[in-house]
Formats: sequence, structure tokens, C-alpha cells
Amino acid sequence: MRREMRAVLMGPPSAGKGTQAVRLAAEFGVPHISTGDMFRAAIAAGAELGRRAQGFIEAGKLVPDDVTLGIVCERLAEADAMSGFILDGFPRTVPQAEGLEDILRAQGVRLDAVVLIEVPEDVLVRRVTGRRVCEKCGRVYHMEWNPPPGSACECGGLVTQRKDDFPETVKERLATYRTQTEPLRDYYASEGSLVVVDGTGDPDEVFRRITRALGRCGS
Ligand code: AP5
Ligand code: MG
Repeated sequence: MRREMRAVLMGPPSAGKGTQAVRLAAEFGVPHISTGDMFRAAIAAGAELGRRAQGFIEAGKLVPDDVTLGIVCERLAEADAMSGFILDGFPRTVPQAEGLEDILRAQGVRLDAVVLIEVPEDVLVRRVTGRRVCEKCGRVYHMEWNPPPGSACECGGLVTQRKDDFPETVKERLATYRTQTEPLRDYYASEGSLVVVDGTGDPDEVFRRITRALGRCGS
């Protein structure tokens, strides 16, 4: 399936946004743009952006809107994003959603869909606790149902736990989601682009639900 697709994946921590975004990006031939991944890459590189974001991320808080909007604005201006994108974890606040609308309006395009992946809190906690990520290629594993081959990834990179996946920070991230990101549900519902998808079940099943829903949206 190759056509223009401009979609946002929303959902609480560990809902499966990254897992599904990778697959959707491949399906539609558009880039996967994750603000969380961009911040982590900047931290690993010791870049100024990383220094500005690190404290917020490790406290389970949101990076300020102006910083986040700035990096998304630059990324969406790149050539590979012209025929679409899968945005993962952005926007997370109403001002970010408004900022995104401005960027897209200036490009003469609009979002096809905002997919909200819903997962009950007990399932989220199990997913987040078991998650491990390759420091080199970014591949995501889960210790129970998709374990890495050993302490290293297939690519040879070290597989570790994200610093913000420790229980205290996860609690804070969930609270941040409820207060700052959940209001976007009404925002996008009232403008007609919201699709709510059940994120439970195995990743293939969730992927089928999302692609079915996207098939009913957009161009
Ligand atoms: P970010 O990296 O976006 O974290 P998040 O939103 O908390 O989401 P996660 O990456 O934890 O989960 P996910 O939904 O991608 O799940 P995954 O597919 O990995 O952001 C990190 C931080 O950066 C934020 O807290 C904030 O500080 C900052 N930030 C980022 N964006 C920002 C913004 N816009 N504004 C301000 N600040 C921002 O899956 C999780 C686990 O479950 C994995 O192990 C996976 O293998 C497993 N899994 C996935 N799907 C399934 C399934 N269907 N069944 C079983 N297991 C599954
Ligand atoms: Mg993610």
C-alpha cells in the first residue's frame, strides 16, 4: 500500500505507538517520526537539544512545547516527509496540536488521521516493565514475549532498559499523559480526525485494526 499518509499515533506510555509506527511507516513508505527517539538520539550524541530535554524526560515530564515544536517543524520540512509521515508521540499537548496544524497549513496539506491506541493500565505496566531497547539500532524487545537473543541485539548493539522505564518515572509519565495529552482526544474528536483503536492483543492484530481504520480515512 503506497499512498500519501499523514498520521499521528497517540496513546499512553507503552501503548505500542513505536511498534506500530515502524510497521505503518514501512507499509505506507513514509518516515516514522518519533519525538521521543529524536530526544534520546540527541542525549546520546551529547547535543544541546539533548541537554535541554534530558531532565524533563528522566523526570517523566514533557519537554517544553517550543523545543518540541521546533524539532518537529525542522523534521517535517525535510524532503522525505513531503509525501507523508507517521508521527509517534507528537503532538502531546493542545499547543503542539495547534503548532502542527500551522506547519501543515503552510505546506498546504492536512492530517489524514489521528490514531489513539487504547490499552488498560495493567497491560501498559507489564509492557513497560519488560521493554528493552538496543542502544545501537533502536530495536525494541520485550523480556517476556519478544526477548533479545542475549545481552546484545542481533546487530551487536547493547540491549538496555530505558532510564524512564523505571517504576517511579513510569507512574509520573502516566500522570503526565492523563493531564496533558488526554485532552487532545476531545480536540481531535471535535475536528473529526480521531480514530480510536483497541491496542490489546498481539502486535499483528493491532496493526490490522489500525490499517483497517486508516483505510477509511484520508486521501
Ligand atoms: P516516548 O519515547 O514517546 O515515550 P512514550 O510516549 O512514553 O511511549 P513509549 O515509547 O514508552 O511507548 P510506545 O507507545 O512507543 O510503546 P512500544 O511500541 O515501545 O517519549 C519519551 C519522553 O520524551 C516523554 O516522556 C517526554 O519526556 C519526551 N517527549 C516525547 N515526545 C514529546 C512531546 N511531543 N512533547 C514533549 N515531550 C515529549 O511498546 C512498549 C513495549 O510493549 C515494548 O516492549 C513492545 O515490544 C511491547 N508491545 C508493543 N505492542 C505490543 C502488543 N500489541 N502486545 C504485546 N507487547 C507489545
Ligand atoms: Mg515509543
